Amino acid sequence: NKSADSAEKRAAGIAASRAVEPGMVVGLGTGSTVAYAIRELGRRVREEGLEILGVVTSYQSEMLAIEAGIPLTTLAQHPELDIAIDGADQIDSNLYAIKGGGAAHTREKIVSISAKRFLVVADESKTSLQLDKAVPVEVLPFAKELVTKKIRNLGGKPELRLALRKDGPVITDNGNFILDSSFCVINDPESLALKLSTIPGVIEHGIFSNVDELYIGKKDGSVEIVKK
Ligand code: A5P
Repeated sequence: NKSADSAEKRAAGIAASRAVEPGMVVGLGTGSTVAYAIRELGRRVREEGLEILGVVTSYQSEMLAIEAGIPLTTLAQHPELDIAIDGADQIDSNLYAIKGGGAAHTREKIVSISAKRFLVVADESKTSLQLDKAVPVEVLPFAKELVTKKIRNLGGKPELRLALRKDGPVITDNGNFILDSSFCVINDPESLALKLSTIPGVIEHGIFSNVDELYIGKKDGSVEIVKK
């Protein structure tokens, strides 16, 4: 049910946006859930004079933040952020997450690791006892064959992500390809993350181990907060 789903996302996004205080530099994630947080922050900027600066993680979050009226800055100007808020594709009880369903995980990881506090917003369908979704791996096009072989050697099944309304592959905001790589159940996310990072040509993978707080939007409109 699409509208119930959006109500959950909305509840999570708005609850997390309340953690943002005047004067903060805020990492703005990508996707449909964090979009609710971005719009709510924009409302506070416009209606309440909230003074914040945003750092975006994708073309999508840049357009949304500009539309919402959030003044933007860059990591070059503000290398240390106070807080970052973002969505996830799947998240387990230890707060390990898989991100990159929107192919934005490389910048999302850089922005979230630059922040003192990283909040993830999600509806209940994203939570799972263990991670078992395909891991998006952003690869340099030049290295596609090598990375494909190395991921297979690690027991994964890499598939080149194809574009929906264009013939051929998805090209990320950074000009690279995505290999969606299924590993079935991931028993040790930390160790898989390390192995993927050492493959030459891997720009960034979608396993995140830096989530501090998870805001889970429920069907009844309540929000459960899980802290690390
Ligand atoms: C973008 O690449 C992803 O990491 C998103 O953060 C993730 O897909 C969450 O998006 P939704 O909130 O739309 O599910």
